[in-house]
Amino acid sequence: MEWKVTLYAPSVGQEEIQAVTEVLKLRWLSMGEQTEAFEREFVQSLGGKGGAVAVSSGTAALHTALHALGIGPGDEVLVPSITFVACAAVVCLTGARPVFVDSISLDDFTLDPADAERKISPCTKAVLVVHYGGYSARMGEIMELARRFGLRVIEDVAHGPFVDTPWGMSGTIGDVGCFSFFATKNVTTAEGGMVYAADPTLLERARLFRSHYMSASSWSKHTGRSTFYDIDGIGLNYRLSDLAAAIGRVQLSKHRQGRHVRTALVHRYRQRLHGQIRLPFAQVPPEGAGLHIMPVMLPAKTDRTRLMERLKETGIQTSVHYLPCHLFRYYREHLGTSEGDCPVAEEIAARQLSLPLHPELRVDEVDYVCDQLLMNLEK
Ligand SMILES: Cc1ncc(COP(=O)(O)O)c(C=O)c1O
Repeated sequence: MEWKVTLYAPSVGQEEIQAVTEVLKLRWLSMGEQTEAFEREFVQSLGGKGGAVAVSSGTAALHTALHALGIGPGDEVLVPSITFVACAAVVCLTGARPVFVDSISLDDFTLDPADAERKISPCTKAVLVVHYGGYSARMGEIMELARRFGLRVIEDVAHGPFVDTPWGMSGTIGDVGCFSFFATKNVTTAEGGMVYAADPTLLERARLFRSHYMSASSWSKHTGRSTFYDIDGIGLNYRLSDLAAAIGRVQLSKHRQGRHVRTALVHRYRQRLHGQIRLPFAQVPPEGAGLHIMPVMLPAKTDRTRLMERLKETGIQTSVHYLPCHLFRYYREHLGTSEGDCPVAEEIAARQLSLPLHPELRVDEVDYVCDQLLMNLEK
């Protein structure tokens, strides 16, 4: 399929090629000094406090965070239904149970603190929040809820890293911040992720879990800092490669540019579509926010599949973020979830459409998407 306008495009160029080439020449490809440097620079980008553990994906970051927090069998974790399924899947992998929480409204898809409170039980140990599309969740109310009920807070920052919110920088407000560096994200390493936390004990557990709880890494053996290792727990191979970390370091140094472009494009979309289609998240964060998704809400009667087909015929790629997790077959069959559990999320899932958004997108392409959307909406 030849798209005229793709939904996403990674913003990579000569600098990334150069960085990868340099690592290849060094002949140390797995987790090593590039990864250590990436972790240090990442912490600096988040304000210089706390620590970070690089991992192989955003999913790995979420799983590692839950492990580090000691979440396990018998526990419940509050998870928004409108999110990528990774959030729920990793809770299940720990042996705990995801409890799906509704979105606030058709204009703010993030986790509804009031519904979260209704769903708290004596087993609830944590709340996992997602800054959908780069728009901050209601962290003030969520942190207050967590304080009242003694819950741990995991921030999924896959969509919106380095967003200045009224409560601090996204990913540093709760107990743990989990980042994704998937190819479409604001900062990419092709595949990759990061766990950020202020608590050193938590960070140490994350570091051990990432690499089979080995007390010494291959890198520390290679550099002569250790010879043998012991194993003090069950972990996985969630390591990031130095090739990926080298890309990440370049991306980190230039992500601000891309963010300005994304914000400007979102303003252009809003200006072109204002009054003609429902535009959620009216409060677009200021310049430099890490916006990731451009969502619109289609009129209730729209045949979305047909509209997406029509847009496809004009070369425009669109998507839906997201189908509600609680209605996926696995969760229905294993957790007994069903229609009506999260009514707002269900309506969002039925009417939402994501339009192309990435730093390589041109203003004339945004205009083309808007024209085609509005024209096909009327048909
Ligand atoms: C909100 C959210 N959480 C988690 C993930 C998982 O990240 P990854 O694909 O890097 O495993 C994604 C990925 O797309 C995501 O959008």
